[in-house]
Amino acid sequence: MTDFGVALIGWGTVGQGVLALLRDRRDELAGRTSVRFELRHVIDKDLTTPRDVPAPPEVLGDDYARVLADEQTHAVVELVGGTGAAKQIILEALAAGKDVVTANKALLAHHGRELFAAARRAGRCIAFEASCGGGIPLVESIRRGLAANRITALYGILNGTCNYILTSMLDRGIDYADALAEAQQHGYAEADPTLDVSGTDAAHKLTILASIAFGTAVDLERVEVAGIDCLELTDLTAARELGYRMKLLAIGERDETGVALRVHPALVPVDHPLASVAGPFNAVSVYGDAAGHTLYYGRGAGRMPTASAVVADLIDVAIGNAGRTFERLHVLPDVTEAPAYRAAEQIESRYYVRIMLPDQPGMMAQVTRVFGDHQISLSAVAQHEVDEHQPGRIVPVVVTTHHTPGGTMQRALRELKQLEVVAAEPVCVPVVDEHPEF
Ligand code: HSE
Repeated sequence: MTDFGVALIGWGTVGQGVLALLRDRRDELAGRTSVRFELRHVIDKDLTTPRDVPAPPEVLGDDYARVLADEQTHAVVELVGGTGAAKQIILEALAAGKDVVTANKALLAHHGRELFAAARRAGRCIAFEASCGGGIPLVESIRRGLAANRITALYGILNGTCNYILTSMLDRGIDYADALAEAQQHGYAEADPTLDVSGTDAAHKLTILASIAFGTAVDLERVEVAGIDCLELTDLTAARELGYRMKLLAIGERDETGVALRVHPALVPVDHPLASVAGPFNAVSVYGDAAGHTLYYGRGAGRMPTASAVVADLIDVAIGNAGRTFERLHVLPDVTEAPAYRAAEQIESRYYVRIMLPDQPGMMAQVTRVFGDHQISLSAVAQHEVDEHQPGRIVPVVVTTHHTPGGTMQRALRELKQLEVVAAEPVCVPVVDEHPEF
């Protein structure tokens, strides 16, 4: 039996989950791992706000320096979030000879290369399972479980808040603001929920997962990002009527010409493996050239699922797995090359487009002419019947297209926006079919 000292930095939603697991599972974890986890410090700048899970008073404080000076603290768990203080906390922990466990996807997506290099110089490791997909063991499944594969694509629902919002709006007919407020109450959302709904949080996770999956140092700046904040209930119901579900997808693809990374709302066919992923759940499909299609599913946000991943990392650090994997598997962005990127405007997709038009003669013809002029072939056109005694009322017209290059669609949208009859910014969402397995 060995003792393993832990410092928890951040007594928030996830921090409380980690506290509860280390407190309630102490003997069980010791029996399973031959490690006695000893919580030596809980550090937070706010010590007064009441919490559901108390921290033992003898370990609670706001002075991080005492963690750095404590030789019996072996690992620092960073749950502060953000890219400011958290970065300093990790660099100082590594310099003081401590291993690091973090759930901070924004920090790793922005500064992963620098932080991993600092860990390597210090002979320590950074474990980050909790940064992607909450309780789903995604990082280790891709990094170790699929290590024999050349991975060609990953398709993920990687933001629980967005998936919760899209599911609640459609199932219960509630509006966007109410669904977001509920997601926040459940503890799924980031401190700043615009990171969730803008697609940024999913882009952070995609950057981390694509780096590991493709073994290249992908750059967050090269992820094309669109969020769910442009969508309305009418888009979700129109998608359902057409045989699809609206999902926020994070997509990483690689072929011989390079890598393409994007996060955007997408219509997925109802029989697509990701279509039935509902509420706060996340799921990621990973396509390897040997394993074929593998699918990972679970709770991607919230206190206990994320704490589950943090404590799994602590176990891996304590028994030496995390350090060996960090050192021996050359897949992290500080030791891999930057990839070539595929040009988004050449990537072909089918599209869903919603256009708001006055219900008058000739309106539809103006719109379809723009698509025709750009050689975009329409696949479906739909407008619901409305009361003819309200001529000129603005109504949604929905079209889907056949495969079209991204650049062509952008040019057509620019022209549509300039039409006087188009009453609001058109909503354009790619239709994503299931990826071929081999
Ligand atoms: N805000 C994130 C989500 C939580 O909604 O998925 C975990 O990263």
